[in-house]
Order: sequence, then C-alpha cells, then structure tokens
Amino acid sequence: MAKKSVKDLDLAGKKVLIRADFNVPLDSDRNITDDSRIKAALDTINYIRESGAKLILVSHLGRPKGQKKEEFSLKPVAKRLSQLIDQPVKMADDCIGKNVEEEIDKLKDGEVILLENLRFYSQEKANDQDFAKQLASLADLYVNDAFGTAHRAHASTEGVTHFLDSAAGFLIDKEIQYFQKVLTEPQKPFVFILGGAKVSDKIPVIENMMDKADSIVIGGAMAYTFLKVKGVDIGSSLLEEDMFEVVKKILAKAEEKKVELLLPIDHLITDDIKQGENVETTESADIKSGWIGVDIGPKTQKEFSQKIKDAKTIVWNGPMGIFEKDKFAQGTKAIAEAIAESEAISVIGGGDTAAAVKKFKLSDQMSHISTGGGASLQFLEGKDLPGISALSMK
Ligand code: 3PG
Repeated sequence: MAKKSVKDLDLAGKKVLIRADFNVPLDSDRNITDDSRIKAALDTINYIRESGAKLILVSHLGRPKGQKKEEFSLKPVAKRLSQLIDQPVKMADDCIGKNVEEEIDKLKDGEVILLENLRFYSQEKANDQDFAKQLASLADLYVNDAFGTAHRAHASTEGVTHFLDSAAGFLIDKEIQYFQKVLTEPQKPFVFILGGAKVSDKIPVIENMMDKADSIVIGGAMAYTFLKVKGVDIGSSLLEEDMFEVVKKILAKAEEKKVELLLPIDHLITDDIKQGENVETTESADIKSGWIGVDIGPKTQKEFSQKIKDAKTIVWNGPMGIFEKDKFAQGTKAIAEAIAESEAISVIGGGDTAAAVKKFKLSDQMSHISTGGGASLQFLEGKDLPGISALSMK
C-alpha cells in the first residue's frame, strides 16, 4: 500500500487525532451489545499509547442529525475502552471548542481522551472545512482507523487530512490487505456468495464481481427476483419488478463471461413470516401461491456447500434467509459452516453477515471478518473509499 501507515509517523510526545469507528450497537439501557469495533481499534490505540503520544479519539455514533442527544453520547464507549486498555479514558463533553482544548492540554504522554459524538454537529457529515480545521487544530498528527466509515467523505475522515499529516491505522491496513488480496489476486476457484433482501442494493457489486469470480452464488430474498425472471413461480416472496431488465442483463452477462451463477433449487417457505407457524420445504425451485420463501432449502444448502468446499477464495456478503429467526436460520448457518470447514481464504463483509457468523460462533474460523458494512460493499464494488484515498502517501 502506498499510503502512509501509523508506523511511519514519529509519535513520541505528539498529540494524535485518531478517527475510529465506535458506532456500536446499544440496548435500551445503553449497554454495548457488541464491542467488536472497539476491540478492532485496540492495536492502533495501544501502539500509539506505547509510542508515548497523547491520544485524542473521535468517532460518530448513530445518526443524531446534528443535534446533541444523550442517547447518542459516546460515554458508554469511553467506559468500555478504559476496561479494554486497563487505563482511564477521559470523556469530553464536546468534540471542538475551548473546554476540549483545555482538556487536551492537560493530557500527559500515553493518556487518552475520547471526544463527544462528531455528528452532534451537522458540519461533520457536510465535510465543512472550518469544522475540519477546528478538529485538526486539536492535534499534531492524524490517524484514520475507522474502516467502517471510510466510505464517507466527512470532516473527520476526509476534511482533516487537508490540514494534518495523516496515516492509516492497523485496522484499515488489515482490511485493505484482505480485500486487495481477494479482489486483485484471488486464488482460483473464486466463489462469491451474495445474499440479503434487495437486488437493487447489490447491482454494482454483482457487476464488479462478474469480472473476478468463477462462481456467483445467490441466496436470500434477492434470489426470488432472479428466479422470477427465469420463469420460476415464487408465490408471495419478495419481488423487485423494477429490477427485471437489470437482472436479465446480469444473467446474459454471466453467460457471456462464462461465470457460473447459482440460484436456489429449493426453499424453506411459510404462509406467514411473523407467526412462522406453518413452515414447509419445497420439492423444487417453485413456490406455491400465497407462500413466501424465507431461507434456502436443504438441496440448495448441499449444492452451495459443495461449491464452497471446492473454492480457494471465498467472499460472502448477505445472509441466505431471515437468520435472525432461528426457524429460518439453517441455510445461513450451513453456508457459514461450509466456509468454516473450508481451507480457502474467506472474507466476510457486511454487518448482517458478520452478525450471522457471530451468532453461529464461527467468527474465529473465517480468515477475515470486515468491520465495515457500507464500506466493505463499496470496496467490493471496486470503488475508492474517500477516507482512505485522502490519507498521505508514504
Ligand atoms: C456503519 O455502521 O456502517 C458505519 O459506522 C457508518 O455509519 P453511517 O452509515 O451512519 O454513516
């Protein structure tokens, strides 16, 4: 990578502004329900602490739309982080201004302060130059380790780089390494597994992967639009009629490029998703009238798993069914298990897919689980991420 790394910076005694993605899920009592993103930033945080710098951490949490609201405060993150690094983390009541500057001035080398949610200011998302300048003025150097937010050109991800020498943290480095490895020099066969609800969200990804993968395996609700175009009865399953022409083009392109495109050959169906009392497995790809596909069936699981077994590179984005409900989780679980058993290099992208793998306790058996949802999708689309492009060159 030609971008500067945190290792290239002279950190001792410096004030370092570190953009992390601490956008973590919280329950109604504001307890963190998944701290993976905080843990993922620890390598960078610990390295900078041990280098004798002063750490000024910034992040967003949720979408407070430019208003200061307690429910979006980063206080729970400061608490969790201080447990993880076994050192107090000061919590500032703002992210810019005189009070914050005074708090930063009091920091000793190796000490850590977390500033309050950047999105309490609408200027953050607007990538306002003055706001970026104010943030930059708090520090001597800038390190971006917020891979999950790298697809946003915001003041704290893109704007600040115009005012400070900047570098990538270890998490961003690691994410780039994995994505570049599978996208630019994949060992063949390369199987791309795609799921989730909507075709419309995934068109650029399919188009980009068509040039790279040997097989594209499609499950989840988006598969029903493909099946419908192929003349299969899909009952009352989710359908995007306005995607028919796009899907036809994708099917034609796959044929032209000789990319194998696998669709479900059977399904788990129900007549009521909410109740989920009546559940059946179909014999074939057809779904009877009034019934809804909610997961891939056992024959499909077997076929997809065999593809995975033969692969040397696997990228997976999007669940195979409504895995949040145990009754409809078997298809997604079977895919996760097949990847876990495989020797292939496996990269898991997207929040839902990472959550599914975690639910099945298989996270340790994947080569890499991306911390990015939208960011990993944008990477798979073959597009630049502004938060990374903006960093200083080596
Ligand atoms: C995410 O959770 O995908 C990132 O933190 C970005 O959040 P955003 O979609 O609100 O910009």
